[in-house]
Amino acid sequence: MEIRLNSMVQSTGLKKVKCSVFISGTGSNLKSLIHFSKKKNSPISIELIISDNANAKGLKFGKIFKISNKVFNFKNRLIAEKKIISEIKKKKIKLICLAGFMKILSKSFIKNFKGKILNIHPSLLPKYKGLYTHKRAILNREKYSGCTVHFVSSRLDSGKIILQKKIRISKFDTTKSLARKILIQEHKLYPEAIRKVISL
Ligand code: GRF
Repeated sequence: MEIRLNSMVQSTGLKKVKCSVFISGTGSNLKSLIHFSKKKNSPISIELIISDNANAKGLKFGKIFKISNKVFNFKNRLIAEKKIISEIKKKKIKLICLAGFMKILSKSFIKNFKGKILNIHPSLLPKYKGLYTHKRAILNREKYSGCTVHFVSSRLDSGKIILQKKIRISKFDTTKSLARKILIQEHKLYPEAIRKVISL
């Protein structure tokens, strides 16, 4: 898949890889990815924002930049995913970026888009998969934490790692301050990881 993404960029010159970003909440990573996509030399364009939550604050960024968004109720995941697949095909999306998307995608959805789904996680994977990463890192008196961008596989937070950024946890850090520090790094790491995936 990586090779196909790359050859598409090369063979079509300026043509950008069409992306969809999936969010559930604040959307600060979405915002940073939109800014990245608007840079002159950016290899991506964001064509579609998907959310499971109509009240996700991040949806406003899509509206500001006139990017279409779709909200799907995940009470029935199978139906939601079917609709998402149809939207993705319609818009010729080649890369899916999960950014604070709080639903677990089915094995068959992931298989369908193998090697095309990325996720960002606020820990140094394989440490602290799942939720409450900052709290657990502080409670365990870790000296370092950070963030990871990885390919999505059928096991939670376990796919191949693309890039990581390590930061030091200070003795004054709280869950909040650590989350804030890591988020700043996430906003830099995700675009870098996308560039890496596309140029592989
Ligand atoms: C980020 O910390 C991301 O790593 C995690 O969820 C958070 C989403 O933040 N998966 P935002 O919605 O992008 O601000």
